[in-house]
Amino acid sequence: MRRKTKIGLLTGGGDCPGLNAVLRAVTKSALKKGWHVIGFRDGYKGLVENKFIHLRDRDVSGILVKGGTILGTNNKANPFKYVLSPYASDKFPKDLSRRAFSIFKKNGLTALVAIGGDGTLTMANRFHQMGMPIVGVPKTIDNDLSGTDITFGFDSALDVATDAVDKLHTTAESHHRILIVETMGRYAGWIALRAGIAGGGDIILIPEIPYKVGDIIQAVRKRRKRGKNFSIIVVAEGARPMGGEMTIMKKLKDSPDPVRLGGVSYRIGDILEKETGLETRVVILGHLQRGGRPTPFDRWLATGFGIKAVDLIEERKFGYMASFNNFRFSQVKISRAVGRLKKVDLRTCEVESVLRAGASFGNFLVEAKILK
Ligand code: F6P
Repeated sequence: MRRKTKIGLLTGGGDCPGLNAVLRAVTKSALKKGWHVIGFRDGYKGLVENKFIHLRDRDVSGILVKGGTILGTNNKANPFKYVLSPYASDKFPKDLSRRAFSIFKKNGLTALVAIGGDGTLTMANRFHQMGMPIVGVPKTIDNDLSGTDITFGFDSALDVATDAVDKLHTTAESHHRILIVETMGRYAGWIALRAGIAGGGDIILIPEIPYKVGDIIQAVRKRRKRGKNFSIIVVAEGARPMGGEMTIMKKLKDSPDPVRLGGVSYRIGDILEKETGLETRVVILGHLQRGGRPTPFDRWLATGFGIKAVDLIEERKFGYMASFNNFRFSQVKISRAVGRLKKVDLRTCEVESVLRAGASFGNFLVEAKILK
């Protein structure tokens, strides 16, 4: 007799809106096929420690619009370098990937769906190389994962960032101030770029174009000459000055990616206030961009990704990740998506459009090259 198909789900890395929509779509469509579904708690931690819940229709019903993840997540648990408990006498990381694989087998799983960004999917790829039947779903507000035009969570973060730019416009204008909005995005400038375009930011600073403070000052002065006594600057947390470094807020000892960026807006704000004479205020959006309800687009995208993941399992396309390219759901090998961040391509028309619509990237030399 053929064994019933049983699949495991996990959500890894930082949370973002749309995770529950994926869990719902995978679970509902798998249950319709007569499969059994379990969800591991807190990312790979649940797989290593065998902590899971059964997912039935009633468990995923009504979660489409909820932010976060009903399974919990973890951006520290790496089965290949695992610390069982930071309080245990033995705090040194161990490779517990074989233990995780045996838990996968012990639970009689046919396949695992790993929902996450670069870190989670890199681990998924290593498990695939060990022989685990695994498929991926691309998540991150940063939109920096290769192999897919877009990740879910990005649109919701963009919505928060654009709303902030909109709101700050009125207060900046009333007080004749410079308002600096700092977005997340790690080493890629997608959130700042798109929120800057959508919100009509005057200066957009992204990691892909190192800025020159002198050029930012000039851009603000040019606006003043045109009678604009305020400026909105949208800056990505990973933005850095020409020849300088990114601003690191802190380093976490126990994280696979220990660097936490943040605070570049204060660096810029202090100089601008002195040099332009305009009062300057800073707003760091931080985790607001990761919280709350997913946008309709993210619900739609996450649902499509979830259905695609089930298709991949049915077609036994293990080692693949659901993707969205050229407005179609498709798939790509996980190995082709991870380890190479998708950054803003300066040759695209959306980058050119920033300049043509009158904004600046804070680097006139690069701007001239883009417009050539
Ligand atoms: O990768 C998502 C992200 O929100 C980044 O934009 C940000 O730099 C980082 O995670 C923050 O991580 P944490 O939640 O650990 O502070």
